[in-house]
Amino acid sequence: MSLSRLAFALTLLGLTTAQSSSVSANSTATSTTYANPDVPTGTPVAGNYAGRYRPQVHFSVPKYFMNDPNGLFVDSNGTWHMYYQYNPTDYVAGNQHWGHATSDDLYHWVNQPIAIFPPAEDVFVFSGSVVVDTNNTSGFFPNQDNGVVAIYTLAEYPDGQPGPQTQAIAYSYDDGYTFIPYEGNPVIPSNSSQFRDPKVIWYEDHWVMVIAYAQEFAIGIFTSPNLIDWTPQSNFSYHGLLGLQYECPNLVSLPYVDESGERQEDVWAMFISINPGAPLGGSISEYYPGTFNGTHFEAFDAAARIADFGKDNYAGQFFYGVPEEEYPVFIAWASNWQYTQVVPTAEEQWRSAMSLPRQTYLTQVDRLGWKLVTQPYDMSPVMGNVIASNDSFANATLSVDYSQVASNALYWEVNVTGIPETGVPATSTLNFTFLSPLTGEYVSGGYYFGGDTPFFINRGGARGFDNVFFTDKFSTNSLRDDSSWSMSGVIDRSMLEVFIDGGVESATNVFYSTQPLTLLVLGAANFPEGMEASVRVNALESAWADQEDEDGLVLGNVTNPDTGSIKVRNMFDHA
Ligand SMILES: *[C@@H]1O[C@H](CO)[C@@H](O)[C@H](O)[C@H]1NC(C)=O
Ligand SMILES: *[C@@H]1O[C@H](CO)[C@@H](O)[C@H](O)[C@H]1NC(C)=O
Ligand SMILES: *[C@@H]1O[C@H](CO)[C@@H](O)[C@H](O)[C@H]1NC(C)=O
Ligand SMILES: *[C@@H]1O[C@H](CO)[C@@H](O)[C@H](O)[C@H]1NC(C)=O
Ligand SMILES: *[C@@H]1O[C@H](CO)[C@@H](O)[C@H](O)[C@H]1NC(C)=O
Ligand SMILES: *[C@@H]1O[C@H](CO)[C@@H](O)[C@H](O)[C@H]1NC(C)=O
Ligand SMILES: *[C@@H]1O[C@H](CO)[C@@H](O)[C@H](O)[C@H]1NC(C)=O
Ligand SMILES: *[C@@H]1O[C@H](CO)[C@@H](O)[C@H](O)[C@H]1NC(C)=O
Ligand SMILES: *[C@@H]1O[C@H](CO)[C@@H](O)[C@H](O)[C@H]1NC(C)=O
Ligand SMILES: *[C@@H]1O[C@H](CO)[C@@H](O)[C@H](O)[C@H]1NC(C)=O
Ligand SMILES: *[C@@H]1O[C@H](CO)[C@@H](O)[C@H](O)[C@H]1NC(C)=O
Ligand SMILES: *[C@@H]1O[C@H](CO)[C@@H](O)[C@H](O)[C@H]1NC(C)=O
Repeated sequence: MSLSRLAFALTLLGLTTAQSSSVSANSTATSTTYANPDVPTGTPVAGNYAGRYRPQVHFSVPKYFMNDPNGLFVDSNGTWHMYYQYNPTDYVAGNQHWGHATSDDLYHWVNQPIAIFPPAEDVFVFSGSVVVDTNNTSGFFPNQDNGVVAIYTLAEYPDGQPGPQTQAIAYSYDDGYTFIPYEGNPVIPSNSSQFRDPKVIWYEDHWVMVIAYAQEFAIGIFTSPNLIDWTPQSNFSYHGLLGLQYECPNLVSLPYVDESGERQEDVWAMFISINPGAPLGGSISEYYPGTFNGTHFEAFDAAARIADFGKDNYAGQFFYGVPEEEYPVFIAWASNWQYTQVVPTAEEQWRSAMSLPRQTYLTQVDRLGWKLVTQPYDMSPVMGNVIASNDSFANATLSVDYSQVASNALYWEVNVTGIPETGVPATSTLNFTFLSPLTGEYVSGGYYFGGDTPFFINRGGARGFDNVFFTDKFSTNSLRDDSSWSMSGVIDRSMLEVFIDGGVESATNVFYSTQPLTLLVLGAANFPEGMEASVRVNALESAWADQEDEDGLVLGNVTNPDTGSIKVRNMFDHA
């Protein structure tokens, strides 16, 4: 690792406090493109998706290092695009580009060539967002109504030291596969080394950007008629848990689904990721339901609400362009800066995966008021056979051997009914444990129906990785307001996502066992008379296996240099 990369990695980890340098704001932020000779252009990076840690229904980077999802949007053809913070030359952060993948269903991803390169050496392309400029407000699009504009941070690292972070744009005529940097970049100059992650949305008659003044704990709200000229309008500052930095804000209009399941008028919410210094250590995101009038956001109350009670859910972003009648879709980076650069997946030549795509809305619950609800986006494209079920399960154990499930990935769900309003004993519990019969390693979780109704997750039984910051037990309290309660989840080789009470609580955690976990044990104990669970376990189908070539490599969207034609190896051609 070079010194400059080390300095950069330390900065990302928040371990340096270097102040902004005096380099002129636009010294290097031009419309040129710089391709490091080690970085592939015009072709995706090939990846091996067979390793025992490799998630099969989650997106993970083909090779090297990934962090934040960027530029999530749906194009005019209904294709989902995901860009991501990408280091194409190493297994740690540094040398940031925008990697790219596309999907028709949010589970089967096609790796695409790197979409955005830096303008110069020692400048990195940091996080940002993408919009579709249907009305040609930018004037970039001579004769199309589906022009795409990316808005992102250029972070200068003169001599490896943090320099200015300025905001730049690039436009695309081809639905976001290739971009042309705007020659007037930066569109928001700055001398600050802590000003980043623009997320842009359309509000009635203008564009709105939220952006982090990271170490001043302010989210700036800017507006623009054309994506080029930006006016600062207000700040949302010093709210909730500060950690040591604010990053990756989102301002989103979310459906409000009331207690009786009726969809009410949408409610605005501000999302802020903080890192480092989260209550569980490292990185986390929080959100604030409130009002927005086109220039100013105000939170309804002073509470800091945490979006996920696990430790691996950061820098999430909402897709631009999801039709208003549908639930907004959110994807987060499923890792934590405390250990992301040392997890053992580098043995398999990759580091980092994204969370499941989540459908989101707001609701109101007992005592707490506003709550974000998240559920996996329609999983039918990867849903496999039912491998176990029982619709009246109580005071018993159910063991499911899934060693024959090729993906080694499962979905499960449990609905509990007939829960008495009072007098549920503290010993009334429902647990899940995923085990390796070979080594005894496990990850587990469970719910106590009595007392103050805690729910726990324990990843401490997996022994493939040890680190002082890789804390292993997480819990929340899942209040019930009627006689039923539910839980569902996905286990995907090295990832565990759990959704409680329909998604009112959720947890994202990575884990690393030395051997695959292949046995699920569900246990229900001391259920009062009349209380029972309905249980179903499904195999999941790998979203990657079909794309492997004879060498086990996923090549992605390969352009044939001879004919210029596009060939996606084995994706649509199983020969
Ligand atoms: C950009 O650089 C040019 C000289 O290269 C200078 O004239 C101009 O004022 C600079 N603009 C900003 C916004 O700093
Ligand atoms: C999107 O749809 C248009 C019109 O049907 C078509 O011309 C274009 O090739 C499509 N683009 C992609 C990337 O599939
Ligand atoms: C495009 O223009 C229409 C008509 O003025 C307007 O209703 C719509 O909000 C605009 N949308 C965008 C993204 O510019
Ligand atoms: C988009 O704006 C540019 C610049 O104003 C103009 O030349 C072009 O004709 C516009 N295209 C459309 C489709 O309106
Ligand atoms: C950056 O600093 C220079 C030198 O102090 C100053 O001239 C320039 O206006 C500053 N740029 C911004 C965007 O604040
Ligand atoms: C927002 O906060 C930043 C950082 O403290 C400050 O530089 C900027 O002037 C503020 N903007 C507004 C509109 O208040
Ligand atoms: C938005 O709210 C701010 C703060 O309350 C206020 O100053 C501004 O006038 C409002 N703008 C509109 C368009 O209502
Ligand atoms: C369901 O679980 C119960 C124990 O709660 C057991 O008695 C019953 O046989 C199971 N049913 C099936 C179909 O396996
Ligand atoms: C669930 O796990 C807790 C904590 O280990 C334990 O006390 C309880 O007995 C378990 N319940 C079942 C049904 O396995
Ligand atoms: C489960 O066990 C408890 C005692 O721990 C008992 O009171 C209850 O009746 C049993 N429930 C069922 C459905 O058998
Ligand atoms: C749980 O309840 C949901 C909603 O009613 C239903 O769609 C699902 O099939 C149930 N699952 C099981 C395992 O009973
Ligand atoms: C492959 O990339 C080209 C643009 O480079 C795009 O038009 C095409 O839709 C992509 N194919 C797939 C299957 O993603």
